[in-house]
Amino acid sequence: MVGYAFMGAAHSQAWRTVNRVFDLPLQARMAAICGRDQGRVAEAATRLGWQEHTTDWRSLVGRDDIDLIDVCTPGDSHAEIAIAALAAGKHVLCEKPLANTIDEARAMAAAAARAEAEGVRSVCGFNYRRVPAVALMRRLVADGRIGEIRHVRAVYLQDWITDPQFPLVWRLQKDKAGSGALGDIGAHIIDLTQYVTGQLITGVSGMTETFVKQRPLPAASNGLSAATGDGRTGTGAVTVDDAALFLARLDGGAIATYEATRFATGRKNGLRVEINGSLGSVVFDFERMNELEFYDATRPAAEQGFARILVTEPEHPYMSGWWPPGHLIGYEHSFTHQARDLIEAIATGQAVAPSFADALQVQLVLDAVERSAGLGSTWSEVEPALTEIAA
Ligand SMILES: NC(=O)c1ccc[n+]([C@@H]2O[C@H](COP(=O)([O-])OP(=O)(O)OC[C@H]3O[C@@H](n4cnc5c(N)ncnc54)[C@H](O)[C@@H]3O)[C@@H](O)[C@H]2O)c1
Repeated sequence: MVGYAFMGAAHSQAWRTVNRVFDLPLQARMAAICGRDQGRVAEAATRLGWQEHTTDWRSLVGRDDIDLIDVCTPGDSHAEIAIAALAAGKHVLCEKPLANTIDEARAMAAAAARAEAEGVRSVCGFNYRRVPAVALMRRLVADGRIGEIRHVRAVYLQDWITDPQFPLVWRLQKDKAGSGALGDIGAHIIDLTQYVTGQLITGVSGMTETFVKQRPLPAASNGLSAATGDGRTGTGAVTVDDAALFLARLDGGAIATYEATRFATGRKNGLRVEINGSLGSVVFDFERMNELEFYDATRPAAEQGFARILVTEPEHPYMSGWWPPGHLIGYEHSFTHQARDLIEAIATGQAVAPSFADALQVQLVLDAVERSAGLGSTWSEVEPALTEIAA
């Protein structure tokens, strides 16, 4: 694993847990973790359960006893690490968004395609697909239970930088993060809605805004928090969007709205998706992640209404490994499911989604939104990525 902070901890939890919960043909062994700071990576290795630690990710890629590289760093190093790992025959799990630029994402998808031919698996970390209620949502849609899809309504709302004194962490710098709310959280709802509907976004009209353009320089930053006050003074420019909104058309005929923002005061991690079809609707809200709302318009008029499905039955996706019905699961379980699916793909030789090609297609949507926003919200086609969304 490369990177040991927020996602490093979440993925470590998954690797520690996955074989204890699911009966799998392969056992995950947590060989080594890499970070840039010797002392902090040593502490992380102990805390997170890794056997060894290093400050040189290249040394991991070169080791014969390592089969898989898990990339949990900011976007500016995804391409270099993932491409080197794939070229060395290592399976790769890479966090989202896949890359900071289209060119990097294309190179990664090409490297993954070459490696695939050699039996090497790669997957991008759009973990919300692996929330059981979201997987159930997809199943209901695929089974035709909501009929022809008309509307997709997706928001991902956070508020962690509403304070103008919050420092200029890496997520607010284009060279490190690629984009702001758009690529960080907008990418999740793009992937999620395309996965659930089985439809790809073909064109967009977008708008982005950076409300706070200068911020104090950070002393140190980790994940979504930051420390100030080590004597560094001055401010720096925010070079990414704080918020991104767009309208979209999907290739199956649906029309959609998306909103991703870090300025929705009071909303901490408010991911909500509603899909309306000719025969019904489905609604997922991450704050109630064990539930799925389902409206079945084929029921007798007197019985119609949104049903709240508690997605904890063994028949529900991923739930057979967990607790008795009604005993809820949480955020970290989506990462365990991601690890499970990747291990199964490696063992069986099956493909695993979302592939790097799928993640490139998400990147092309992000690009279309940025182009549109730069042209006063002019309609912008999404460049075809030559991929289909796989289950
Ligand atoms: N799937 C999700 O829901 C989700 C959530 C948060 C973040 N992410 C993604 O995960 C990635 C990491 O985000 P995070 O929140 O964990 O960030 P973070 O700041 O918490 O952690 C980044 C880690 O990478 C390390 N690092 C940075 N550059 C490095 C380099 N060149 N070599 C080695 N280590 C390096 C840092 O030391 C740190 O340990 C990003 O791509 C982000 O978009 C995904």
